Amino acid sequence: MIWSGLMIYWADSDKGLVNGVYRIGWGQTTLFHFFPPGFWRALGLEFGLARGMSWHFFFVWFFAINGLLYALYLIISGEWRLLVPSRRDFVGAFQVVLHDLHLRKTPPPFVKYNPAQRIAYTLVVLMGGASLVTGLAIYRPVQLGWLTRILGGYQWARWEHFWLTMGFVLFFVIHVLQVMRAGWSNFRSMIAGVEIKETPEGTHDKP
Ligand code: HEM
Repeated sequence: MIWSGLMIYWADSDKGLVNGVYRIGWGQTTLFHFFPPGFWRALGLEFGLARGMSWHFFFVWFFAINGLLYALYLIISGEWRLLVPSRRDFVGAFQVVLHDLHLRKTPPPFVKYNPAQRIAYTLVVLMGGASLVTGLAIYRPVQLGWLTRILGGYQWARWEHFWLTMGFVLFFVIHVLQVMRAGWSNFRSMIAGVEIKETPEGTHDKP
């Protein structure tokens, strides 16, 4: 979705010759443009508007249906209780961050999802829903005019859609770094869906 979205956005950066419309800055001061011309060239994202739109609107149904099924599963199985953070988790998450930055010695509680994970994973599910809603608002701004209006109009909905994408990128980068830190065994269990515990030979069948 991000790749095809970028192919769409390229067309609005004046064919990649000038900086894109989104930026970080204030007033006339700009710290960074999303994205400078070299970015599109380096990733080969140029001249792909029609292709980008086709991919975007094709894959969106897989992700939307998959996301809805996942949300339904969380609700029906009751697993949402493991994920949704409580008020206390905000303090806990701060402690996890301090620990990860080596500023706090006490490790986070050894539970399925620690407070920081609960906040991050709940947030990313909500962001998925928000991408769907803002995407629909800019996909059908006439038929779904009421939705586009609720989101502040077409330009705002588009702006929200873009910044949600940057949020996913940030989540992805931090998540991959954390997975690398957690080690190979953790990575295997993420892929396999089951926890693989290695025990010294011969100890596994002892009572
Ligand atoms: C996680 C899911 C999604 C991601 C990461 C994503 C990402 C992006 C990105 C980066 C852009 C280019 C931004 C811009 O040009 O302003 C874009 C454009 C667009 N997206 Fe998505 N998108 C997602 C889901 C959706 C959904 C569900 C729809 C609804 C059908 C949708 C519809 C559109 C449309 C219509 C545009 C063109 C906007 C324009 O330039 O006028 N997207 N998307």
